[in-house]
This record gives sequence, C-alpha cells and structure tokens, in this order.
Amino acid sequence: MKTETKITLIYLLFGFLWITLTDNIFFLFNDYAELYSAIHTYKGWFFIIITAVVFYFILHKAMEKVRAQNQALLESYEQLEADHEEFMALNEEIMLKNQELNEGKERLHKIMDLVPHLIFAKDSTGKFLLVNKAVASLYGKTPAELVGKKHVELHDNISPEELEVFLATDQKVLEKNEPVLIEEEYITDINGHTRIYITKKIPFKYSESIEKAILGVAVDITELKKSEQLIRAYHQKEEKFREELILSVSSLLEIHDSYTRDHSRNVAILAKRLAEELSLDQEEIEYAYWTGIVHDIGKILVPLEILNKKGRLDEEEFKIIKKHPEWGYQSLARSELLSDIASYVLYHHERWDGKGYPEGLNGKDIPLVAQIIALADTWDAMCSDRPYRKALDKETAMEEIYRNKGTQFNPALVELFLKIITEFY
Ligand SMILES: [Fe+2]
Repeated sequence: MKTETKITLIYLLFGFLWITLTDNIFFLFNDYAELYSAIHTYKGWFFIIITAVVFYFILHKAMEKVRAQNQALLESYEQLEADHEEFMALNEEIMLKNQELNEGKERLHKIMDLVPHLIFAKDSTGKFLLVNKAVASLYGKTPAELVGKKHVELHDNISPEELEVFLATDQKVLEKNEPVLIEEEYITDINGHTRIYITKKIPFKYSESIEKAILGVAVDITELKKSEQLIRAYHQKEEKFREELILSVSSLLEIHDSYTRDHSRNVAILAKRLAEELSLDQEEIEYAYWTGIVHDIGKILVPLEILNKKGRLDEEEFKIIKKHPEWGYQSLARSELLSDIASYVLYHHERWDGKGYPEGLNGKDIPLVAQIIALADTWDAMCSDRPYRKALDKETAMEEIYRNKGTQFNPALVELFLKIITEFY
C-alpha cells in the first residue's frame, strides 16, 4: 500500500474515532448540554491543530526529501553538463586527430604516387591493402580499384609461373616473418608486356585487425638487364678477340718452328690442370693456359739454325736462346689485352734456387703461374723428340722432375705435379 493511501486512511480513521469517541464521552456527562456547542467548536479546533501539526511534520519530511532529490538532480545535471562539455571537447580533438590522420594518409599516398617504383601492401590471403599509382597503372586501374583484389583477378595475361612466384614469396615472408629479396621477378602488365623487377618483400603489421601483412617494393630493372646482356656479349667478343689474337701470334711461332706446335698446346693444357689442382681463381687458371700457348713466342726472333741445331749450342747461341723470354715479354706487354700474361712469359725460365734467367729470381718471388709453366714446359720438352735427342720415357722424366725438386722447381708444386701427371699419360 502506498504511503499517501496509508496516511489518508489513518487520517479518516483518526477523524471518525475522534468525532465518535469525543461525542460519546460528552454525552456521558449530559449535565453540560448547554456547553455542547462550545465544546464542539473547541473539539474541532483541537482536531485541526493536531492534524495541522501532524500534516506539517509529514509535509516537512516529504518536502525535505523532494528538496534533497532536487539538489541531487541539479548536481547530476551540472555533472552531466560538465561531462557533455568534456565529451564535446574530446570529440573535437578526435575530429582534429582524424583530420590530421586523413591528411597524413593523403600526403603518404601522394608521396607514394610520386615514386616511379611499385609499392604495395597485401594481406595474408593475397588481397591488396594499398598500392601506389605505378602498380595501379600496370593493371590499367586506379589505386582504389585495386584494393581488395588479388593478383589472379587482375587480368588474364598473368602466367601460372608468374603467379607461383607471387604466392610462394608471399608465403615465405609470412611463414618466416623475415624479408625476402627476389632478384629477378617477371611481372606482366595488362597489355601482356613482361618486365623484370628486383623486389623486396617485408613482413609488417598493417592494423589492429590485420596483424600479418606484406609490404613490397619493386624496381624495374629491365633496361639494366638489357645493358648487362650487352656488356656480357661485349666481354665475350673481347675474350674471343683476345683468344684469336693469342692464337694468331702463336701460329706465327708454329710457322717459324714446327716443333712448338704441339709443345705449346701440351704445356697450356698441363699448366691449366695444375692451376686447377692448386685451386687458383678462374682468371689465373685462364692465364696459366694462355701463357702456356705463348710462353715461347720470343723464339720467333731466334734464328732457325740455332733452334734446330742438332749439336751442342755454343755460348753465343745459348745467349741468343736465353733472350726469348724477354723478347716474348716485350711483344706481349705492349698489348693491353695480353699484358697480364707478359710477366709470366718473362719468368718462365726462372728457377726455384735463383739460378734461372733472365733475372735470377728465386722461391716465391717467381710468379706462381710462371713456376707452373716452367714445370709443364720442362716435362713436355723431356717427353718430346728434339733435334739433338729422343724423348725420355715417362718414368725417367718423372725421376728427372723429382731430382730437381727444390732446385729447379718449387717442391710443393713438384709433389702435386707428380700426383696428377698419371692422369695425362
Ligand atoms: Fe722457353
């Protein structure tokens, strides 16, 4: 039951009881009937005073409650107003930040669009999250049109191999969570033109919801590759020209002294094999071969009667023969293409013990390629017929080489030479 109903009922009960009880009490003493009217009035006043006091307290209590509620309401309202103001300020700040962010994004897109290289971001399913104009124009679209699409959806000219590289490298970046460099990536545009790119793909977190994404930058190297091919072709031609030049020069000697024909080739092949066994770099291995071909080129200037003399050479003749390394050097050093091997030719008659010619160098002062030629030259000379003697057999020649270990030849080189010589004979 509501309070106001209770109060009203109590009031009614109290009123009826008051009137009934006081009237009955009065009639018990009916000797004062003439006072009834005055008492009735006082009784009414008393009732009014009592009920007024009671009502005053009830109303006072109720009003205090209402006033307290009003005050609380007012305070809540003020708080609400303050919160609203704070919210509005916060909202304005967010709007400002959002505007700054949008401007930043716009600036970033403008910068990205200025870059002529391909810049893109993809999610783990292969969908583009963002691309610059360079990527979009490759596929005949705007950057916005490309967002949300996969490579396979772009056009029909993409080959399965091209697609395989896209997907496999994306997968690698995501699985290993580390950057991947694709040194040659073939990308076909919407017109079917394929160009070569060098591409770097990096794993990164795109947003709170897209934690695994790939950022890629690809630079067009098609023209660079074409230039590389041209340079390679030029080098091949240059190399061929050098080889032909050397062979032409050596053929001059062959015309002059037919004995050198096979000898030069034998020395070249053996020297190359020895250089390979020594694990020299490719350039030195080539030098060993070509030095073998031209090592005796200076002999062109040695008269035939000395070269082909059957008897012993006298001192003067031997002096002329000993000139051939220097003559060879002088003719080769003038050519830029052959100057590298000129010094090896110069020193191919030096000895390990310093008793060789033309400069009497010893030990490791003699270039290694020249040491190799000296060994191969002596071996082939011993194993060939000469105007003044017959060829030695293999065992005798090997014994002769071994006997000169540490005097004529580098001991370590002799060991290696004897080890590989059986492959040749
Ligand atoms: Fe020689």
